[in-house]
Amino acid sequence: MVRDSIAAPVRLAQQAEKLDPARLAFRQDVWSGLTQDHKSIPPKYFYDQRGSELFEAITRTPEYYPTREELAILTDNAAAIAGYIPAGSAMIEFGSGSTAKARILLQAAQVAAYVPVDISGAFLTSEVQRLETDLPGLKVFPVAADFTRPFQLPAEIAQMPRVGFFPGSTLGNFEAHEATAFLRHAAKLLGPDARLIIGIDRVKEPDILHRAYNDSAGVTAAFNLNLLRRINRELDANFDLDGFCHYAFYNREHHRVEMHLVSRARQKVRIGGRAFEFRRGETIHTENSYKFTPELFRTIAQGAGWRQAAVWSQPDDAFSVYVLLSEEETYISD
Ligand code: SAH
Ligand code: AVI
Repeated sequence: MVRDSIAAPVRLAQQAEKLDPARLAFRQDVWSGLTQDHKSIPPKYFYDQRGSELFEAITRTPEYYPTREELAILTDNAAAIAGYIPAGSAMIEFGSGSTAKARILLQAAQVAAYVPVDISGAFLTSEVQRLETDLPGLKVFPVAADFTRPFQLPAEIAQMPRVGFFPGSTLGNFEAHEATAFLRHAAKLLGPDARLIIGIDRVKEPDILHRAYNDSAGVTAAFNLNLLRRINRELDANFDLDGFCHYAFYNREHHRVEMHLVSRARQKVRIGGRAFEFRRGETIHTENSYKFTPELFRTIAQGAGWRQAAVWSQPDDAFSVYVLLSEEETYISD
């Protein structure tokens, strides 16, 4: 069963008003994002069922190197990484997606329970079913939640040491202040002596980054445009999908790949009863994917109360997996 992080009384009140809280927050975020001078929509909204499937398809494109790099690092160093996972721990994964990376650690360590947390509820349910079939002895407690907002961990893991797992360089989809806030909250959620195993994509040759976010089969473009399809379906909107195109480039100054949807013409779009105008060439900024130097990542982690215990990369240094240890002082003073 997938846990729902919304308290029962709140849910009842919202049912009475016939409002779905997640849908309401989505509409509010889209409305406010499209009212700004530089239009934007938070990247967490990419992940409906189709968005999750398209992300998995991106990971299989020849150009998108991060998944292959991280899988290789985890496979080659599974025993060493498992050494940082105490026997009997609960492993909590933030943004679990296909669970492919977690499986490597779950097989290498003596984990008592696995808690995949993901905003894409239906996809989470089906991936958990597959995992339970493949690893029948494992206790799995999925949580369908937005990890940028407060959520409860399952009561079943209350007495277990906790190890966080945050692969994919999903941290790079946050702004710097959001990354710090996330890492601080993760330290609190995981408790004293927490460990966090985290995958981080590195600054590299812009051509490689450009290709990774502009794959030749157009899968990343479909992933980006699926956001408009989702808004049409869930928020009663009328985006013309042919009226926008995918645009991704490496912004060297900010060391991030930016993804945008560019309006091909002057047009007006209706979303849940409100109208929004787009100039020809105007963009909706849909994602930043920050890339890190080892020094920058260490500074961010330290600033959020984590100390670096270990790091692994492949010989090309394209991607790194870190083990971070929570600094006790920060945990107490928070
Ligand atoms: N961990 C997997 C998937 C990474 S894709 C991997 O490394 O390949 C990012 C994942 O995070 C998706 O499954 C998406 O649904 C989830 N996600 C994105 N924003 C989220 C949020 N705010 N709260 C919870 N899950 C989120
Ligand atoms: C999930 N996240 C880290 C991916 C990234 O690379 O920023 C999402 C993605 N966007 C385009 N391709 C993949």
